Amino acid sequence: MTIPQLLHRLPAGLILLTLAATLRGQPATLVLHADQSGPVISRNLYGQFSEHLGACIYGGIWVGPDSPIPNTRGIRNDVVAALKALAVPQLRWPGGCFADEYHWKDGIGPRELRPKMINTHWGGVTESNAFGTHEFLDFCEQIGTEPYLCGNVGSGTVQEMMEWVEYLTSDADSPMANLRRKNGRAAPWKIKYFAVGNESWGCGGNMRPEYYADEFRRYNTFVKNYDRDNPIQRIAGGPNAEAYDWTDVLMKNAGRQMNGLSLHYYTLPSGSWSGQKGSATQFGENEYFSTLRNALRMEELVTKHSAIMDKYDPQKRVGLVIDEWGVWTDVEPGTNPGFLYQQNSLRDALVAALNLHIFQAHADRVKMANIAQMINVLQAMILTDQEKMLLTPTYHVFEMFRVHQDATSLPVELTSPDYQYGADKIPALSASASRDKAGVVHLSLVNVGSDKPVTLACVLAGVSAKAVTGRILTGAAATAHNTFDAPHTVEPAAFTGASLAGDKLSVTLPPMSVVVLTLQ
Ligand code: AHR
Repeated sequence: MTIPQLLHRLPAGLILLTLAATLRGQPATLVLHADQSGPVISRNLYGQFSEHLGACIYGGIWVGPDSPIPNTRGIRNDVVAALKALAVPQLRWPGGCFADEYHWKDGIGPRELRPKMINTHWGGVTESNAFGTHEFLDFCEQIGTEPYLCGNVGSGTVQEMMEWVEYLTSDADSPMANLRRKNGRAAPWKIKYFAVGNESWGCGGNMRPEYYADEFRRYNTFVKNYDRDNPIQRIAGGPNAEAYDWTDVLMKNAGRQMNGLSLHYYTLPSGSWSGQKGSATQFGENEYFSTLRNALRMEELVTKHSAIMDKYDPQKRVGLVIDEWGVWTDVEPGTNPGFLYQQNSLRDALVAALNLHIFQAHADRVKMANIAQMINVLQAMILTDQEKMLLTPTYHVFEMFRVHQDATSLPVELTSPDYQYGADKIPALSASASRDKAGVVHLSLVNVGSDKPVTLACVLAGVSAKAVTGRILTGAAATAHNTFDAPHTVEPAAFTGASLAGDKLSVTLPPMSVVVLTLQ
């Protein structure tokens, strides 16, 4: 929208405000259309991912029943309490690359009898299989999340996958259901989401899309609905980043058989897989800017993959499932390169908020997303060190954005000033709004600009709010992060930079900040 068009739309009082914003530089304006409504923002956009990788499972979730760290049946109590506060909708497990070499029968029965294996992808360490199907599903029940299991296509058999589904969900007098009973679980679990392989173009088997499409169709045939009242949603392994051909071939050949198609895209500070990716906490403005610019590529990827899906599925029956996303940096110095342990700064919080806004803007097609990963790996929610635990800036964004889960999206028209760095620029602001089931409107805002506050002049069309309250997440520097010695450096605080007058809202956003406003 041009400035004259915008001014034409705005009520007289707000024109003054807008001009004030415009005169200081580029305009910063927003029209929130609470008089219209978009698609429901599935809570599943707020999902997470836990892989047998580094200290995600062992140390992060599982310490074993004999550990001095307080636990319930071997699962850390502090981690469970922290995750319950996020209302995690679903959790993906056991991988990742690990899923395509995982044999589920090795992870059931008495723990002392379970065979070990080598985790070839992640550090070559010995996997004890102490955390298996029962332990994972116990963890899901403890935190109140839906399990999202990933089956082994790369090195497993159809029979193995079929039997896992029977073991999990059948209530019959059948070999696998009886084996489950023998292992201490009488009632079947309800499994809503099941992925048929992971990254089959790479670590999951180096397949071509035509071949995988056929493999998907074959394996998927045997993912049976033993529990007819709770049919399983089947997710096909989708493309890596801009591999549009993969999406095309999969949709063409197997679109009718799937409920979701996955997409993986990681934000690399350097933008390159070869060489250094960049440090999680030691970076200057150059890498800060490139990280945000690279994160914003998600918009293009989602738009283009969605357009291909539209060709084959105009009704949008098949969800785009972004089941691996997040910042991927170099590991922390001195840690095992195969464990992908990285710190998490204010920059990560901004990247998380930008991505969540993108997913919400595409809520008609994006039906699920899972950040990589939950604990101690990549862009984690939680870091642990023995008995210590801290919440990362990314955790706080997920907690602040909880209000959008299952709310109805509301269109926003945002005019943002640029954040210019050298010859390059990105929008400084990002916004998303929703109305929850109680009728309360929430507006989340991000200012990625590195040095200036931005005053945003908003018109609230169709909102009859009497008050605005808010919370902010920001810090002294983009590199600000929480440590075990100073775990509260970056955490949400009350926000006082918003004022409401009738249908006009003015918000002053500090640089590098995430704000969530409640209008009621
Ligand atoms: O999340 C780490 C790894 O990244 C996963 O195992 C794999 O699927 C992806 O390449």
